Amino acid sequence: MDKFFGEVQEPVSPHGQYFNSSVMCSYVFGFLELAIPFDNSLAIPLLKDVFIPINPRFSSIMVKDVEGKMRWQKVEVKPEEHLKIPIFPETINSSSCELYDKYVSNYVTSILNGRTPQNKPLWEIHIINYPTTNAACTIIFKLNHALGDGYSLMSALLSCLQRADDPSLPLSFPSQRPQLNSKYAKINLFEKLCFVISSFFSSISDFGSSILKTRMIKDDKTPIRSGYEGAESQPFILSNITLSLDQIKGVKTKLGVTINDVVTGMIFYGIRLYMEEKNEKTKTSNSTAVVMLNTRNIGGYQSVKEMQKPESKGLWGNKISFLQIPIPKMCQSKISNPLEFVWNTRELIKRKRRSFSVYLIALLLDLEMKLRGSEVVAKIIYNTTGNSSVLMSNIVGPVEKMTLANHPVNGLCFTMTNGPENVNITIISYMNVLRITLKTLKGFIDEQKLKFCIEKAVKVISEAAMEISEISTKN
Ligand SMILES: *[C@@H]1O[C@H](CO)[C@@H](O)[C@H](O)[C@H]1NC(C)=O
Ligand SMILES: *[C@@H]1O[C@H](CO)[C@@H](O)[C@H](O)[C@H]1NC(C)=O
Ligand SMILES: *[C@@H]1O[C@H](CO)[C@@H](O)[C@H](O)[C@H]1NC(C)=O
Ligand SMILES: *[C@@H]1O[C@H](CO)[C@@H](O)[C@H](O)[C@H]1NC(C)=O
Ligand SMILES: *[C@@H]1O[C@H](CO)[C@@H](O)[C@H](O)[C@H]1NC(C)=O
Ligand SMILES: *[C@@H]1O[C@H](CO)[C@@H](O)[C@H](O)[C@H]1NC(C)=O
Repeated sequence: MDKFFGEVQEPVSPHGQYFNSSVMCSYVFGFLELAIPFDNSLAIPLLKDVFIPINPRFSSIMVKDVEGKMRWQKVEVKPEEHLKIPIFPETINSSSCELYDKYVSNYVTSILNGRTPQNKPLWEIHIINYPTTNAACTIIFKLNHALGDGYSLMSALLSCLQRADDPSLPLSFPSQRPQLNSKYAKINLFEKLCFVISSFFSSISDFGSSILKTRMIKDDKTPIRSGYEGAESQPFILSNITLSLDQIKGVKTKLGVTINDVVTGMIFYGIRLYMEEKNEKTKTSNSTAVVMLNTRNIGGYQSVKEMQKPESKGLWGNKISFLQIPIPKMCQSKISNPLEFVWNTRELIKRKRRSFSVYLIALLLDLEMKLRGSEVVAKIIYNTTGNSSVLMSNIVGPVEKMTLANHPVNGLCFTMTNGPENVNITIISYMNVLRITLKTLKGFIDEQKLKFCIEKAVKVISEAAMEISEISTKN
């Protein structure tokens, strides 16, 4: 019997299953912007020798075994079936980036929706060898979320790349240790006790409101939430914003908060500006952002090899939970000071992060999966995100410049697809730059205006911060 199913491998993780269920089929898209045109003849060898060996799942499909459980089954991969190289019409003025920007944007819209064939491993690579404003060539990785979460897939992607200055050295990442631990170690016992108690209470109420949100509380319909059911099957469009990490660090130091607080505060402020501009009344509407987190309790990235070692079993895969954060409202007069937005956001995140609800939600998802199966959990996640307005996730990228087979990588961004919400925001750092990618419902959200509003928020908040003379210790 064993021999018979010799090819059938490890079971598909529960999280992996809900990323391919009837309610949800989610893909992670990674974009590499190359400084020079790509030599297409390198593509197949790279796929064969570097990409496919990364993880057995890249050469497996999902099958139901005799007991009805989903398992990964190894198959023979034909790399050429997974490689897409679009041909655009020649432009008369071949240096016209704007025209190709438009072609690329339409092409990306066309591949964002849609499943990859189910009888083949669940990934595709698209090579767009045309110049855009940002790049001479854009390489797109389309990977089913069932293969792993953003973290696993990111480390997979990065293991195909080398450091530009010295390929023999590993890429490094900004240190990510949460400050909480060091602070926590310093405070005295009494404070620790208060901390534990307050975190206990805020957990209970967060946990309650998370469940409530999936069951009954719905965000208002606003310029950022259409309220249509089934929005995920409609076309989305991508736009992106590039921020200087040094500028953000400057603001962070002035305000005495974290980089995350600054960026989240800026995005929330930008979203409210957009809402206000679209419809004055909605600047005070109830709108929630769901922030996806991964629950791995480790610092920076691990190499894929390390992740797959038996002793770090379980690192590869999907380990996620989420926080629900109400987007601060524009109504309070004190919010005329944009910096209040950052501090406000910081308070909200701090309270939520400190609570155990992140882990409770992860636990609940696991439990529901065991008791009721992946379809139910998929529905919970779908209902939660669908009843919120904005979904945000972030990934930390390397500090050094990278190359892909000697092609320098100028920029890096990512996005994820197929949830019910209308605005999906993903953030990644690379070298000295933060890239914010906005994935918005085409036709419903004015992506140019939203982008403009967030850029304006960045400007307004940076300027306000620079006017502060001393470091504010406001908490
Ligand atoms: C993914 O989900 C769809 C819809 O439930 C199903 O038809 C398909 O067979 C699934 N794919 C795999 C590989 O299980
Ligand atoms: C980001 O925006 C630039 C400029 O509009 C564009 O050229 C590029 O293709 C965009 N990248 C993605 C991944 O959408
Ligand atoms: C927002 O929710 C609160 C209760 O949570 C409610 O009292 C208030 O009326 C809501 N605001 C709007 C604009 O719907
Ligand atoms: C999700 O919403 C649907 C209604 O669209 C409802 O039938 C279902 O019970 C909800 N699922 C969960 C797990 O809350
Ligand atoms: C949101 O909550 C309502 C219940 O108020 C539910 O019927 C609906 O299916 C949920 N999900 C979405 C995606 O709207
Ligand atoms: C938004 O991104 C999350 C992951 O951050 C993903 O799970 C979800 O399906 C995405 N939704 C849409 C509509 O793209």
